[in-house]
Parts: sequence; C-alpha cells; structure tokens
Amino acid sequence: MELPGGELRIVSQKEFPIQNTLTGATMLLKPGALREMHWHPNADEWQFYLSGRARVTIFGAHGRTKTAAFAPGEVAFIKQGFGHFIEQVGDEPTRVLILFNSPVYEEINISTWLAANPASIITDNFGISKELADKLPKESVVIAAPQAA
Ligand SMILES: [Fe+2]
Repeated sequence: MELPGGELRIVSQKEFPIQNTLTGATMLLKPGALREMHWHPNADEWQFYLSGRARVTIFGAHGRTKTAAFAPGEVAFIKQGFGHFIEQVGDEPTRVLILFNSPVYEEINISTWLAANPASIITDNFGISKELADKLPKESVVIAAPQAA
C-alpha cells in the first residue's frame, strides 16, 4: 500500500493461505512521516528496526503513555489493544519489519474512527470546535506525509 508518507506491505493468511500463525509486514516511513495513531484489536505487534530511526509512543487506559526512540537492530513491542503511533526521525527513511501473532491482520486507525463518528460526538468528547472537527480527515490516513511549513 503506497501512502503519502511511505508504504505498508502486509502478508497475512489472506495473501499466503498456508501461513496460519502470524502476519508479517514491512513499513517504510519517509523523513518526517507519521504512522498515525492506531491499535490492533486481535494481536501483539513486534517491530524490528532495519534502518533509520523513529520514536514510538504507546498508550493504555487511564492516561498511561510511554515514548521511546528506536534505531536499527532494536525491537519495539506493543501489546494487543494498546494504541500507538510512530514518528519518523532523521534524514534517512526508516524501514521496519513487523510481525503480529495472528494470521488475520486487523487495525483501527484513529482517522477512520474519527471519520466514523458524527461531528457532535467528536466536538463534545474532545472539547474541540466544529471548525476543527470539520478539518479532520474523512478517510483512513495510515502514514501521513510531513506537513508543509
Ligand atoms: Fe501497529
């Protein structure tokens, strides 16, 4: 899947039927890109950093968050259901090998979730104006390109 900020290639049981235990993926983040906040309702995620650098933020219930930097050879682990996003860092593109412990790939992106709710739900629960809510993406972003300065 080619995206504005990079690419995400996924191989699950759907693409490779003999594989029935995991899903593999590769992700490329161009400089300044953001893998938007998302979560996987059915699997843990294991990220192996191949090249480039990134900053990963994970969050759980009750406002718990943690951010850590990753470089080639390092592994990030995200427990099933925990929200997370990945910020590309540095001038070199970031490449990541990703594994999920389920043969079925599932993701919920925050842009998709926001777009699926009426604007009044978003404005009431997040305390933002309707004008700002109207500017939110209306479809899944996945990997966003850097904003022009
Ligand atoms: Fe993920």
